[in-house]
Amino acid sequence: MGARPCVVLVVMVVVATVRWGQAFNVLPVGLRSFSGPPGSQFGFSVALWKDVKNVKRVVVGAPSGNQTWANITFPLGAAYLCEPHLGTTDDDDDQGGGGGACHVQPNLTPENDSIYTRRLLSFYRYTLEHYGMALGQTLVAEKGEGTKMMVCSPRYPEYFRDNYIVNNGMCYVMQDPTDVAAVKPPYNKAFKTSLTGYSVASAEDNIVMGGPMAIHGCGLVINCVKGRCGPFTTKFETGNTDKETISKKKACSDTYQGWAVQLARFGGPSNPLTIAASSPKTRNYKGQISFFPVQMKSWQDPLHVIEGEETGVLFGYALASP
Ligand SMILES: *[C@@H]1O[C@H](CO)[C@@H](O)[C@H](O)[C@H]1NC(C)=O
Ligand SMILES: *[C@@H]1O[C@H](CO)[C@@H](O)[C@H](O)[C@H]1NC(C)=O
Ligand SMILES: *[C@@H]1O[C@H](CO)[C@@H](O)[C@H](O)[C@H]1NC(C)=O
Repeated sequence: MGARPCVVLVVMVVVATVRWGQAFNVLPVGLRSFSGPPGSQFGFSVALWKDVKNVKRVVVGAPSGNQTWANITFPLGAAYLCEPHLGTTDDDDDQGGGGGACHVQPNLTPENDSIYTRRLLSFYRYTLEHYGMALGQTLVAEKGEGTKMMVCSPRYPEYFRDNYIVNNGMCYVMQDPTDVAAVKPPYNKAFKTSLTGYSVASAEDNIVMGGPMAIHGCGLVINCVKGRCGPFTTKFETGNTDKETISKKKACSDTYQGWAVQLARFGGPSNPLTIAASSPKTRNYKGQISFFPVQMKSWQDPLHVIEGEETGVLFGYALASP
């Protein structure tokens, strides 16, 4: 890349990562207040979304909220769709209060395939009942109008060869509330405990997910184009146990690549769509941002890297893009 990429970096002191979409014209008059059930962590994440039918909503994550799945109520996590002006008039807005509604977006649950369901419940029911799968921890609305909404479940358990890949992670992608598709990483041990979907970004049919805990915290980034999830960045996806591989794994452990991701034409609209992924803990917590092409090769090396300069600053903890 020629010009220094135009990335706005914000180091946030909060643990929760709140990401903003396109703004509504929010005025202090006509204030609305919504809350979720006690203990649901309603408001952990928030996004402003204008869907493909041009309906505007505030999407609110509640990663400990209940959902019913397979006829059982679990704290799987939930996403609420809030319409602040539903059933209100301009007068109501002037006087403040009243009107508006939030409801849980349905169908953001594991697939209801009988074998999957039976196995998941027999192996994993205790965990689901006590810890859920953190659905709605990460919410991102694609930029622009008439766009996709991503609601991710970084602790989603994937069934793989008679066992579960715990905390495999995945995201649901919505065009509108009735059109929901699951985007899951490929069957690969690299995704075990990866928390894929901890970060997500989308543009022009690409859905980029970060899995910062993959491979002992080396982390990884994967791009899914129209439902096909391609190669990913880590070099250690196989069960390779030779000494050299093990020492490389140790060297990158706890770098957390994919902690935050963005997808944009950095530096101008004529530049290629490029992935930015941060590794905030790399090099003694100095942190760095790596840029990857959207069409990744296996074990893709970054096109460009921006390094944090001071020890301990966690450069790249949060990323925003134009
Ligand atoms: C979830 O449902 C259970 C059982 O119905 C209830 O005890 C719990 O309070 C609910 N939790 C939330 C966060 O709504
Ligand atoms: C799951 O499938 C069963 C049988 O196909 C059906 O009875 C049940 O209502 C479904 N549950 C959900 C949550 O969709
Ligand atoms: C779901 O649970 C309710 C209440 O426990 C029960 O009456 C109903 O028969 C169950 N439905 C199915 C499909 O298992």
